[in-house]
Amino acid sequence: MFFKKKNDAIIVDPSRLPKHIAIIMDGNGRWAAKRSLPRKAGHKAGAEALERVVTEAKKMGIQHVTVYAFSTENWKRSNDEVAAIMDLLRHYLKDSFQRFLKDDVRMQVIGDVSGLDVDIQEQIKVIVEESKEKQGMTVHIALNYGGRDELRRGIQKIAEKVESGELSSKEISEETIEAYLDTAGVPDPELVIRTSGEERISNFLLWQIAYSEFYFTDVLWPDFGKKDLEKAIYYYQNRERRFGGR
Ligand code: FPP
Repeated sequence: MFFKKKNDAIIVDPSRLPKHIAIIMDGNGRWAAKRSLPRKAGHKAGAEALERVVTEAKKMGIQHVTVYAFSTENWKRSNDEVAAIMDLLRHYLKDSFQRFLKDDVRMQVIGDVSGLDVDIQEQIKVIVEESKEKQGMTVHIALNYGGRDELRRGIQKIAEKVESGELSSKEISEETIEAYLDTAGVPDPELVIRTSGEERISNFLLWQIAYSEFYFTDVLWPDFGKKDLEKAIYYYQNRERRFGGR
């Protein structure tokens, strides 16, 4: 037994933490609807949950957290909702990310940043640069991200190397592919969390989740907190990971 349960409290084993947790933050809209609030109020509460969860994950000693903030499919939402999420992001990059900086958190972005408004691209550059020496933990924000699109972009770059003669097609290994993904150099997530009762991957980190454990919870993302994070890690610590072996 690798864990203890004391007075029904969830006790996480600090020596067996996942290095990397990926989170599909779902349920902002339903959280808002339950309160008769506009969807953007749900996203605002979701952004607050993100800051809370990152802070807790860092305290626990998690090294990487990747969150799905805006997918390549999210552009299909109403103009109003997309604008509200982008405004929240602008605000976030100024405000919460400044607090992350003070807390020794490094910021990275995955996804096709070139599809975002220029001012947001500039803000991202600054934050990534300013935080690059931070050691506490790394938060990877997926923006205009899709797993298939990431693979497509990576394959395109590999094909260019082959065309120019810098790489032979026979040399393409799994490591080559990994090196051309947005997550190059980052360990794969051992644990993926999806909130709000949905049990889908929705084009998130398709390559990287080959051996991940999945934790699905009915909790809506804006309500997700420390206890829920502990429950997810507790669940992970009680799974036997075989990586295809026995
Ligand atoms: C899913 O809820 C959430 C999103 C598509 C956006 C995620 C954004 C945040 C958590 C906050 C923004 C964070 C940053 C950094 C800008 P949903 O709208 O699909 O909820 P529903 O399924 O209940 O409608």
